[in-house]
Amino acid sequence: MAAEPPIREPAPAKINLYLHVTGRRPDGYHLLDSLVVFCDTGDRIEACAAGTLSLDYAGPFAADLPAPEDNLVMRAAHELAQTFEISKGARLTLFKSLPVASGIGGGSADAAAVLRALIRLWRIDPEDGRLAKLALSLGADVPVCLMTRPAIMRGIGEDLQLLPSFPELPLVLVNPGTGVSTPAVFKARTGDFSLAFDWPSGTVTADEVPGILDGTMNDLQVPAIAIAPVIADTLEVLQAQTGHLLARMSGSGATCFALFESTSAAHTAAHAIADAYPGWWVQAATVYGA
Ligand code: C5P
Repeated sequence: MAAEPPIREPAPAKINLYLHVTGRRPDGYHLLDSLVVFCDTGDRIEACAAGTLSLDYAGPFAADLPAPEDNLVMRAAHELAQTFEISKGARLTLFKSLPVASGIGGGSADAAAVLRALIRLWRIDPEDGRLAKLALSLGADVPVCLMTRPAIMRGIGEDLQLLPSFPELPLVLVNPGTGVSTPAVFKARTGDFSLAFDWPSGTVTADEVPGILDGTMNDLQVPAIAIAPVIADTLEVLQAQTGHLLARMSGSGATCFALFESTSAAHTAAHAIADAYPGWWVQAATVYGA
């Protein structure tokens, strides 16, 4: 009998188009209000049937990953098997194309992709409420990455409201090569908490998005710049590009994005930035609509 082809699951980059820190829980976790979207660039997981669980790495950022047993991907796989009492294994490969510790969900998106891949490989019922609990226990961004749909994320990441419609948006992602620690950025945040934003409930066009986002911000941008000043340079470079509409940091950084008025303007800007800053990771992409 021929071997089954591997199950492939994309782990798209996650972008926080805005991120308001609205409070802090007694356990130290911060309450958020964030518009989370995904785009057509990211990592990839492959899963093949096997007797035990194993993880291999490939791709341009594979060398920056921790030892496989310390990767969130392996924790996700072990905990999924444990939660659903699965005694099978899997041979996993992570193709790492996104920079590590960069605010675009890499680790969370990879963990969510491995959950989706193993749900298919092990034929688990995904409607089971235990999955949502397991996803949140792996990280605040894992539940939204499991959905991979435009969503308003509240609470610490568990309260998700999928947007019924959302436009495709051309953008450029830039990471200046500096990893930033998420706990350090949250810790460096000072001042009052923000109010939650009221994202329009009706249909929004691509032309309207930048204007609506003007009423929002990423509350982690200032503390992240204090830790890694190169983030301010990255934003300046994005703002200097022809056709850019709005430039901002994603998550806890250091990756920044800019929305562009057209796909061709985004590609032209990405080429120009990559030429001028050869050490930076630069990617033109399109935000998935809904
Ligand atoms: O959940 P995750 O592992 O992504 O979070 C990493 C760290 O970031 C947490 O340990 C916490 O210090 C901080 N964090 C937070 N509030 C959130 C998400 C993360 O304070 N909503």
